[in-house]
Amino acid sequence: MTRGLFITFEGTEGVGKSTAIRGASDWLTQQGVAHRVTREPGGTPMAEEIREVLLRSREEPVDPTCELLLMFSARAQHLARVIRPALEAGEWVLCDRFTDATYAYQGGGRELDSAPVAQLESLVQGETLRPDAVLWLDAPVETGMARVAGRGGEPDRFEHERVRFFERVRQVYEARAGNPANRYRRIDAEVTADEVADAVRKTMEELHREWTSLQ
Ligand code: TMP
Repeated sequence: MTRGLFITFEGTEGVGKSTAIRGASDWLTQQGVAHRVTREPGGTPMAEEIREVLLRSREEPVDPTCELLLMFSARAQHLARVIRPALEAGEWVLCDRFTDATYAYQGGGRELDSAPVAQLESLVQGETLRPDAVLWLDAPVETGMARVAGRGGEPDRFEHERVRFFERVRQVYEARAGNPANRYRRIDAEVTADEVADAVRKTMEELHREWTSLQ
């Protein structure tokens, strides 16, 4: 059986990842492609507990290395329990964020060196498990932040960060998108929701065509 495709969705806050993933999942369902939708940090009961620890706003300043290790702890559990078994069973996996978010948020946002991120990536994922495609929804930071503010509700620990933090996050995504080995597909997220949905569907069609030709 051919392994399923591993597709991740990335971007700064408020770019419309959830809607994009829903659209991608609906399209795969229409094509009869077995898949599962999951997210990081999280995706298993234990990893969701780690997510809660990571996102909760707190008075105690969080050491960036502590944050980095918790991201990869959750990821190890998620890979072992959900992602690897699904891919090996031939299912596609649509994941709301993955290791590119660690390079962008802990590397860019928190200004950690990328070398320990790369070391942990090798430790937790080995040398072969990488996304087959990273759908990067890209929009100016202010546009996304205004959308998040418009949603209401309590901001989580990351949403408390300032524009400069998210500018650094976006710059890392941009730099990573420039390297073909990272398999980025940039989707302009500054246009209307319908246009974003069309672009996502088109990208899914391309990926599906390539995957089918390998069967
Ligand atoms: P979400 O709001 O898209 O569900 O993601 C939760 C937050 O976690 C988001 O602000 C980005 C952050 N995050 C990291 O900082 N590093 C990571 O590796 C991942 C997966 C998420």
